[in-house]
Amino acid sequence: MQENFNLLINSFIDFNVGIGEDFLKPELSNQLRINLKRLFDTDKMLFAGTGTEHLIQEHNIIRGDVIYWLDRSHHDQSENAFLDIIDLFVLHLNETCFTGIKSYEFHYALYNEGSFYKKHLDQFRNNDSRAYTMIIYLNEHWQQADGGELRIHHIDSMQLIAPENGRCVFFKSNELLHEVLLTHQPRMSITGWLKTS
Ligand code: OGA
Ligand code: NI
Repeated sequence: MQENFNLLINSFIDFNVGIGEDFLKPELSNQLRINLKRLFDTDKMLFAGTGTEHLIQEHNIIRGDVIYWLDRSHHDQSENAFLDIIDLFVLHLNETCFTGIKSYEFHYALYNEGSFYKKHLDQFRNNDSRAYTMIIYLNEHWQQADGGELRIHHIDSMQLIAPENGRCVFFKSNELLHEVLLTHQPRMSITGWLKTS
C-alpha cells in the first residue's frame, strides 16, 4: 500500500499530476463498480452541478455526469474499505508532505455515453477548501475508441489520461485546468477532494 502511495506522490511531485496504477485491488474495484451500477439502476444517482456549483454553471451544459456521495453511514463494506484506504493515504500524505489535510469528500460518478465535463478548476468561487483532487477509475477493458479521457491543460502542453480500471489520478484542485472528453461508453469513477478544513 505504502509503495503505491509513494509512486502516486512521487509522480505528482515530478509532473504535477500523480498517476498510480492498481490503486485499488481488482476485487474492490469490482465491488465498487457493482455498487455504482446498482445505484444508477435504482435511480439513486443525481445530476451533478447543483448546489454551490450551480452558481458557476448557470444555464450552460458544463457537465453531464451523475453522482452519489460515499458515506460511512451507508454501512457498505466496499465503500468503507475504499474510505479506509483514503484514510491511510491522507495520513501518509500529511506525514510525508505536511499537507494539513483535515477532511475529504468522495462521490461515485457515471458519465453515460455522450457526456463530458468541460474545462474547469475543482474549486468553488466562494470556498477554497478543496486542496487536492483524486480520481479512481473503475472501467475494465477501456479502448482508445471509447474516448472519455481526462485532458489536463498544463501551461504549454496537454496530457490525456484514459480512465483505466484501478488507475488513480492526483493533482492540486486549484491549479490545473482539466476536462473530461466526450465518452462513447459508460464511464465510471470515484472522484474526491482532500480538504484543508
Ligand atoms: C471532476 C472531474 C475528471 C474525471 O469531477 O471534477 O474533473 O476524469 N473529473 O472524471
Ligand atoms: Ni474536475
